[in-house]
Amino acid sequence: MSLFRAYRIFELDGKSSGRFVDLTLDELDPGEVVIQTHYSGVNYKDALAATGAGKVVRRFPCVGGVDVAGVVADSRDARFKAGDEVLVTGYGMGVDHDGGFAEFARVPADWVVPLPQGLSLYEAMAIGTAGFTAALSIHRLEQNELSPQQGKVIVTGATGGVASLAIQMLAQRGYHVVALTGKDHEHGYLKSLGASEILSRGELAMGTRPLEKAQWAGALDAIGGDTLAWLTRTMQQHGVIASFGNAGGIELHTTVMPFILRGVRLIGIDSAATAMPLRRLIWQRLATGLRPKLLEKVAHLEPFAALPQVFPSMLQGKLCGRTVVGIKPPG
Ligand SMILES: NC(=O)c1ccc[n+]([C@@H]2O[C@H](COP(=O)([O-])OP(=O)(O)OC[C@H]3O[C@@H](n4cnc5c(N)ncnc54)[C@H](OP(=O)(O)O)[C@@H]3O)[C@@H](O)[C@H]2O)c1
Repeated sequence: MSLFRAYRIFELDGKSSGRFVDLTLDELDPGEVVIQTHYSGVNYKDALAATGAGKVVRRFPCVGGVDVAGVVADSRDARFKAGDEVLVTGYGMGVDHDGGFAEFARVPADWVVPLPQGLSLYEAMAIGTAGFTAALSIHRLEQNELSPQQGKVIVTGATGGVASLAIQMLAQRGYHVVALTGKDHEHGYLKSLGASEILSRGELAMGTRPLEKAQWAGALDAIGGDTLAWLTRTMQQHGVIASFGNAGGIELHTTVMPFILRGVRLIGIDSAATAMPLRRLIWQRLATGLRPKLLEKVAHLEPFAALPQVFPSMLQGKLCGRTVVGIKPPG
């Protein structure tokens, strides 16, 4: 049986860490669909998992990578056949099921999304879980009556993968987007994506009152902690927040005042567990109306071998936008 390259995460003395290994298909978790991986992408969760900085992996050893896009090599499910272009994001990928950082992935057919018309495999991974999360957040906010007429929308962790894509999508939909960033040298980048205003994290006066000046109709939060608490205190009447990230902390200290006096709504976003009908709808939107027009500004390609170097930079908040990993060997 032929060997292929995979980046597998192991646990040793209670600490997890990843390394490249050679595997056979038989060593992968079971599933009806075998995918030859063309591209994967790096998400914050992948960096936590591979370095052991967060308890993400629930079953060791496990091939990392929450995302994969490639071509079906073999299928025991009638919905897919060899040669189909497909993608998988979330579910148990890279957590308790071997994921996308490998030349082959084997997954349950119920997890597989046909590549939407209009997106290439590379573009699907430039979007990846990050773009899916951005689009799902916007979808949820708009289901809660957010529209450009309501007022400004703030996006935190602005230069990150999810946020960079969210800024573009919101700007394309006509929103006045305010980007909150810790990177003062990236203001030009954020403006080029469509941000109308930039706030510097270092200069932000958060105040301490249960309700501060009402500023935002909508918010997409990558940070959690003090930043999310501040958002709750600065939302307008009936403002709506999508909380999807914890790059700055998992705690949330606020009061009920924003909720009972301003009718603020705090919506949790869990992209990994999104049910298939909504998942397909969001991917359809990502290939059409929500398709980020400036994807090439946000995403860059790294070779598979460079994967381990990406994780620490990501955890230190040094990266900008999305890192796509090219996995299919040439030829
Ligand atoms: N709920 C879901 O389904 C879901 C899906 C995808 C991602 N996520 C979560 O969303 C967050 C962002 O993911 P991502 O893939 O976009 O990651 P990313 O590309 O690393 O972006 C995170 C951004 O947050 C800011 N940041 C980093 N460390 C920080 C700190 N200590 N304090 C404050 N800000 C900090 C940085 O932006 P600036 O320098 O511009 O401020 C950084 O670029 C992560 O927490 C991730 O786990 C959740």
